[in-house]
Amino acid sequence: MKDLATKRVLSGIRASGRLHLGNYLGAVKGMLALQADPDYEALYMVADAHTITTPYNPEELKQNRRAVIIDYLAAGLDPEKSILFLQADVNEHFELAFYLSSLVSVARMQHLPTFKEKVKQHPKNVTMALLNYPVLMAADILLYKADAVPVGMDQISHLEVARKLARKVNAQFGLDFPEPTRFATTGEYVPSLKGEGKMSKSVEGSYINLDDNLDTIKQRLAGAPTDSGQGEIKLVKAATKQPATSLKAGKKYIDAQTEIESLGVCNLLILVELFEGAEKRKEYEALYQGQGIRYNQLKTGLAEAIYTELQPLQEKRAELLTDSAYIDEVIKQGALKASKIAQQTIQELRTKMGLV
Ligand code: ADP
Ligand code: TRP
Repeated sequence: MKDLATKRVLSGIRASGRLHLGNYLGAVKGMLALQADPDYEALYMVADAHTITTPYNPEELKQNRRAVIIDYLAAGLDPEKSILFLQADVNEHFELAFYLSSLVSVARMQHLPTFKEKVKQHPKNVTMALLNYPVLMAADILLYKADAVPVGMDQISHLEVARKLARKVNAQFGLDFPEPTRFATTGEYVPSLKGEGKMSKSVEGSYINLDDNLDTIKQRLAGAPTDSGQGEIKLVKAATKQPATSLKAGKKYIDAQTEIESLGVCNLLILVELFEGAEKRKEYEALYQGQGIRYNQLKTGLAEAIYTELQPLQEKRAELLTDSAYIDEVIKQGALKASKIAQQTIQELRTKMGLV
């Protein structure tokens, strides 16, 4: 049973490709912060079953689910401190998702922005699994009675579903699911390199992968749109700051207290701030309003700062790749530990639901 004083954290990343800077800053950094917090028991999974909600290749899925575990380890997640596991290794996720699906309407799921986006991306693959995506995610979280969920801003609507389901189950069956809240990091919204939207695996040219070398990072940044380098920066009152979730293609990005006409330049400056600090960003803003930014220089400096952060992860990853028995053991132990907690919750719920 969960000790009342212990809080739990659960998070996951789909196994749909190699991790990128958005995943790292928006999700993994938060996972690391809570792994280091003694008040939390941490569970971090690979959302491999969520991967089958959009078209996929089984052979690639098999490789990717393991690759995400390796990326977790390379980034500093530690199986001595956190339970690292594969979602599909714990059947209770699917069982709970089915029970929860009886408490939420089809219409509610159809109206979620994330569902609509995927329908647009894959109009021929609008499946029940896709519609059920947020319910399975709620099951992932509630199964472990997690309080905190480190994820990026794009997951806000999914967390609302999880909270609503927690309230419903508690009210109808007398359980004690906490209402999970998002644990935000400073990199909760990493912009795309294409000038609009967020960095995402599913948008080619938008991302930098965690295993990119310096040359590749430079090449990827070279493609990021810029402008003449000079212009006006408007000061924006904090009250008019737009939440990044409301960003749509073509909308102007307003971040911090400043606004620049060119979305691409805004995005580059956000990356500068994330990797080189707020002072560096201010220097570039001053140049923008003065003698002009030389984007070649900006991009080279930024590429080097990104690579400096990624290099230790890449070295650790190369080491991990030589020890496949260790990875097997991490996955096996993770499944055992997660299953133990999951079985308790399911047993409790089945009893209250009249299924025992
Ligand atoms: P993708 O959109 O690239 O497929 P996922 O949906 O698998 O990424 O996201 C995995 C985790 O990484 C989630 O917590 C998500 O919020 C976070 N994340 C993804 N992209 C970004 C981003 N650009 N900025 C911040 N966090 C992000
Ligand atoms: N939906 C999340 C994403 O796309 C992945 C995910 C699945 C997740 N289950 C989760 C995140 C549970 C946090 C908690 O990134």
